[in-house]
Amino acid sequence: MPKEKRSEFPTARPFLPETPHLPNLREAAENCRGCDLYQNATQTVFGEGPEKAVMLLIGEQPGDQEDRSGRPFVGPAGRLLDRALSEAGIPRKQVYVTNAVKHFKWVARGKRRLHDKPRRSEILACRPWLESEISTIKPRIIVCLGATAAQSLMGTGFKITKERGKVLQTEWAPLLLATVHPSALLRMDGPEREQAFSELVMDLMKAAAAVKTTAAR
Ligand code: URA
Ligand code: SF4
Repeated sequence: MPKEKRSEFPTARPFLPETPHLPNLREAAENCRGCDLYQNATQTVFGEGPEKAVMLLIGEQPGDQEDRSGRPFVGPAGRLLDRALSEAGIPRKQVYVTNAVKHFKWVARGKRRLHDKPRRSEILACRPWLESEISTIKPRIIVCLGATAAQSLMGTGFKITKERGKVLQTEWAPLLLATVHPSALLRMDGPEREQAFSELVMDLMKAAAAVKTTAAR
């Protein structure tokens, strides 16, 4: 890494293009070395979706399948998210989907690569990418899926258990709603999962309805 790209704390900042737009952000992110997570991952998984998306969804970080394919939310959690979006009447191709952290962090368990929770320093290192996605897309609503996404933007004092499903006004977008992460549902079964799934669908519907009641910027 060139000397001028070093800083005292990990950050993607020096890797960002000067005048960001989606194509050059995506390209620049491919070579990000802002924290150590690029070292064990296959590739950067940048966000995906229309530049004019009204709704921007944020997950935590790519999983095993996302790391291999280079696309966000294509594995088991992604399939669950797709079903929830579809039940909420939101076409996935109309929303921009991204993650708080753009590289897959994992630990080996036999031949499997298991998700490993990103540290606060890694979440903050990666945030410039997320900030640029938000500022180029200018969504009317941001939907945070799980605590990592929510706390990346709202700070560690933000508790999903308390705030989930509330339509909030924030500096990031006129509206923001935090809900559970679809992966949390994958760890449940039976009626518990059904219940959590319908609550996720309801939160997504609430987000879509909130957009309709606010004027376009
Ligand atoms: N979980 C996430 O948070 N993001 C993905 O892209 C896939 C799984
Ligand atoms: Fe850069 Fe984010 Fe990957 Fe770290 S996780 S290397 S900050 S893109």
